[in-house]
Amino acid sequence: MAAPPPPPSGPNQELIKAAKEFAAAAERFDGSQNEQMRLLKEADTLRYLLESPFDRMMKQWEGTTVISALHLLVETGALEKMPKEGSVTPKEIAALINIEESAIARALRLCVMEGIAVETAPSTFAHNTKSLAYASPGSREFFRICMEQLKAFLKLPDYFKSHTREDLFNLKKSPFAWAFDLEGLTYYEAISHNPDRFNMFNMTMTQLENQVPILGMFPWPTLKAEVEAEPERAFIVDIAGNRGHCLVAIGKETENGFGGKGKLILQDRPDVIASLTPEDIPNIETMVIDFFEPQPVKNAHVYFLRRILHDFYEPVCITILRNIASAMGPTSRLIIADMILPDKTELGGDMTIYWMDFSMMMLNGKEKTKGEFEEILGEAGLELVKIWPFGFGAQANIECRLKR
Ligand SMILES: C[S@@+](CC[C@H](N)C(=O)[O-])C[C@H]1O[C@@H](n2cnc3c(N)ncnc32)[C@H](O)[C@@H]1O
Repeated sequence: MAAPPPPPSGPNQELIKAAKEFAAAAERFDGSQNEQMRLLKEADTLRYLLESPFDRMMKQWEGTTVISALHLLVETGALEKMPKEGSVTPKEIAALINIEESAIARALRLCVMEGIAVETAPSTFAHNTKSLAYASPGSREFFRICMEQLKAFLKLPDYFKSHTREDLFNLKKSPFAWAFDLEGLTYYEAISHNPDRFNMFNMTMTQLENQVPILGMFPWPTLKAEVEAEPERAFIVDIAGNRGHCLVAIGKETENGFGGKGKLILQDRPDVIASLTPEDIPNIETMVIDFFEPQPVKNAHVYFLRRILHDFYEPVCITILRNIASAMGPTSRLIIADMILPDKTELGGDMTIYWMDFSMMMLNGKEKTKGEFEEILGEAGLELVKIWPFGFGAQANIECRLKR
């Protein structure tokens, strides 16, 4: 048998090794979400190994101009006016939205260079799957809320120049509210202050399934016997569950709460609950609550708290957790669905938690390490039972109970 080729040597050694690993992983790729995320990360590593510092800066600037072009096309309705099938000229789009056609053409060309839309003939454009995402309600609202966040990011240096260090931790002085001249309102009051932003936020919560999965961590179907033995106790109370998308997903995984025996309760603020239709939340009970008050549903099987603790710093989290603990019985579980910040930052890891952490700073929140979770749980009279991690990235379900 021929000897295996010698390992690569010389200045490109690392690049060749990474490229070979990438090619091998691509051959094995089974289309699964985990593997796709892993391959994307490896593709990023290849680029990292190849580029100069200035290449990186240029890539970032290219991305920024594409984002600005998309912002123009989304906010003017240009992308929405493009037919879902077939081609259109900037002149035709311009006639519909009363914007100078050359601006539309220039923005579209930039997007095409990023693989978003195609130019089918000179100055004639068509959607592709990537541009359609910016014209579809859910993902478009995610993009729009990112643009709002970006406006606030750009004002961060001025925020810190005009505020004390402590202000960053004051719920009524968040960088986000300040950036939009709403200082004095909490982040969620600022969200509710503007109907467009309120809708953007709520639509966004139902997106990002790839980056922030709901299922694939805590084994919900294993609770069947417990729930069937004590059906008078609510199965899941989704505290601040927004549009009920998590309960819908868990309901599907558990055959509608074990054949309807386990009650599913969705709790949130009054305007969020009022925005829901019965079709949004089949077989789900709704309840207006304030998580700064004691939890009204006592002794449920599970209290579910997803993406809430990362919205706040530790003292606020302890208040929220104590309010939940006050309702828990000896066998109640609290499942915290959040990301766990690695103790050390490593290039090549999942980026989601880091952009999320920076975003949370805009609203008086932060992502937390395992140690930080344990600390706030302990302060609230709770203890960590088990961490159920997702297959890729920092997402996890943290199972907790009353301290024994
Ligand atoms: C980041 S979202 C998370 C939503 C959902 N749990 C998820 O993971 O998609 C935060 C939610 O908390 C709700 N919320 C904010 N302040 C609240 C309060 N004081 N009491 C109850 N819900 C609140 C918001 O309306 C929003 O739906």
